[in-house]
Amino acid sequence: MEKLLDRISDEMRNAFEAAGYDRELGKVTASNRPDLCEYQCNGAMAGAKQYKKAPIVIAKDVADKLLDSEVFEKAEAVAPGFLNLTLKNEFVGAYVKKMRAEKKYGLEETPSPLKIVLDYGGPNIAKPLHVGHLRSAIIGESIKRIARYMGHTVVGDIHLGDWGQPMGLVMNELKVRDPKLVYFDENYTGEYPDTPPFTVAQLEEIYPFASKRAKEDEAYKADAMACTYKLQSGQRGYRALWNHIINVSVADLKKNYEKLHVEFDLWNGESTVHNLIPDMVEHMKQGGYAYISEGALVVDVKEETDTKEMPPCMILKSDGAALYNTTDLATIKMRMEQEQPDKLIYLTDKRQELYFEQVFRCARKTHLVKEDTQLQFIGFGTMNGKDGKPFKTRDGGVMRLENLIKEINEEMLRKITENSKKENHEMSLEQQCETAKIVALSALKYGDLSNQASKDYIFDIDRFTSSEGDTGPYIMYTIVRIKSIIAKYAENGGDVEAVYSALQTPVNDSEKQLMMELSKYNTSIEAAYEETAPHKICAYIYGLANAFNHFYHETKILTEEDASKKAGWIALLILTRDILETAIDLLGFEAPERM
Ligand code: ARG
Repeated sequence: MEKLLDRISDEMRNAFEAAGYDRELGKVTASNRPDLCEYQCNGAMAGAKQYKKAPIVIAKDVADKLLDSEVFEKAEAVAPGFLNLTLKNEFVGAYVKKMRAEKKYGLEETPSPLKIVLDYGGPNIAKPLHVGHLRSAIIGESIKRIARYMGHTVVGDIHLGDWGQPMGLVMNELKVRDPKLVYFDENYTGEYPDTPPFTVAQLEEIYPFASKRAKEDEAYKADAMACTYKLQSGQRGYRALWNHIINVSVADLKKNYEKLHVEFDLWNGESTVHNLIPDMVEHMKQGGYAYISEGALVVDVKEETDTKEMPPCMILKSDGAALYNTTDLATIKMRMEQEQPDKLIYLTDKRQELYFEQVFRCARKTHLVKEDTQLQFIGFGTMNGKDGKPFKTRDGGVMRLENLIKEINEEMLRKITENSKKENHEMSLEQQCETAKIVALSALKYGDLSNQASKDYIFDIDRFTSSEGDTGPYIMYTIVRIKSIIAKYAENGGDVEAVYSALQTPVNDSEKQLMMELSKYNTSIEAAYEETAPHKICAYIYGLANAFNHFYHETKILTEEDASKKAGWIALLILTRDILETAIDLLGFEAPERM
C-alpha cells in the first residue's frame, strides 16, 4: 500500500506541475509547526532561483491548484513561501479503512527476500549469563522478528563461547578439587558416568575463582592451558567432562532465554566448527593468503585507504592453538555451506567492531564468502547504572541476568499490587505475579530497545517500570485500557466482529490525530528494518499510545448514543490494539489481558 507521505507528495507534485513548475519540487514533510499545520512543503522556496520569482508567488500558484484537492483540506501559502498543509478528514479516514483491509496493515513485504544468518546472544559456557549478554539477546531477537515480518528468512544462531580458555580453567579447577575424578585418569577405557560431577551453581562459582587464580599463579595457568589443549586435541576424558559442562550450562541458558522470550534456531558454538579448522587453514595457506609472522599464522587485512590501524588477522597462535578469530572464520565457512545465506549479521558489544572488520575482510579476501554476500556488524553500547558506569550489583559485582530479571519482576509486582489496591481490581496474588512478569519483561525490553542500539543507556528500574512516560508499562496500560473498553462494548451487547468495517471519517480532531499516527505504520516498520533500528518501532508505538490516550480523554466512547459513531470508534480501537500488539511482538514481548 502506498505510504501516506508518498500519496501526499504525489498530490503536491501534480500541483507543482499543473502550475507550470518542476514536479520534483513538491516534496512534502511532516510539519515543523504542528500548531499551524500537519504537513508542509518547502518546494516554492527551493524553486525561487530557478524561476526567478518570489517564493510566495510560486506557493500561491501551487495553492491555487489545490483548491479542490481530495487530499488537502487546506493548502496555504504563507510568507516567505511555505505551503502549510492540513489533510482532509475523508482522506485520512479512507486511508485507515484501507489499512484495515490490507494484509499487514498496508506494510509491503520485501520484493527480494534474503536468507539471513543472525549471530546473537553469544553467551559463554560455564560463565553466568550476565547483563552484557542481555542487550545482544534483546536487540537480536527484535531484529530477527522484524526481518521475518518483512518477508526475509532468518536463522538465529546463539554462537556459544564453548571452546576456548575458560573451558580449560574450569576443567583444571575441577581437577584440583578432585584429582581422582575418572575423567582425568588417562588409562581409563570404560564408560563415563551419565550424571555431571557438579551443579550449575558450582560451575558458576568455579569459573570466576579459577580465572582469578590463573591471573596470580603462572603454574596454575599453565595447567589450565594444558587442559584446554587436551580438550581441543580430543582426549576422551576431557571431552566427556566438557560434555557435562555444556549440558548443564545449556539447560540453564535455555531456562533464562525462555524467560526473556528469546528463541534461537541453532545452538551452535565455537566448538561446532573445530574440526573444520585444519581444512580452512590449509585453504588459506594454499591460496597464499596466510603466512607465518613471529611464529603465528596470519592473514593481512590492511587496505590502502585505511586511516586507522588494521592489524593482521591471526589464524593460529605460535603453539598452533586456534583463537576466537579462527572459530569465527570457520563458522562463516560452515554457515555458507549449510545455510547458503545472502547475508550474515552479527550483534555484539560495539567494542568488537574492529575485530569484526578484521574477520569480515579476512573472510572476503580468502573467499570464504561469495562476492555478493553481505556482512553486517551491529555494535551496541553499554548498559550503565545510574552512576553512568557499567551496570553492577550493589556490592560492585557483575549482575547476573537471573537476578536482574528477579529485581525488575519484584518492582513491577509491587507497583501492580499497589495499583490494583487503588483501583479495587479483584486479582488474586497469583494473577498479579503472572501479570507482573509479563509487564516486567516489557519494562526491561522497552527500556533497552527504545534507545538507539549504538548508544549507552542507563538502566533505571524505577523509570523503566513506571506506567507514565516513554516506557513499556505505559504501552501495556494503553493496550489493556483499549481491551477493557472493547470488552465492555461486547458485554453491553455490541457486536465486536461486525464493527470491523465500521471505520469512519474522523469526527473530531483527536480522532483524526489518532488515525494519522496509525497511518505511519508501514513507514515506521520499514524504516526499523532498513536501518536495523527497533527504537523506531518504540517511537512509533509511543506516539500512537499518546494519540490514543488523548483521543480517549476527549471522547466519551461507551456512552455515545449514535450507534454507528460508537461502532466506528470501537473499530478504530480494535485497529489500534491490533497494531500495538503486532508492534510489541516485533519487539519481543506481549501485553496482559488486565493489569
Ligand atoms: N561469546 C562472545 C563474548 O562473550 C560473543 C560472541 C559473538 N559472536 C561471534 N560470532 N563472535 O564476547
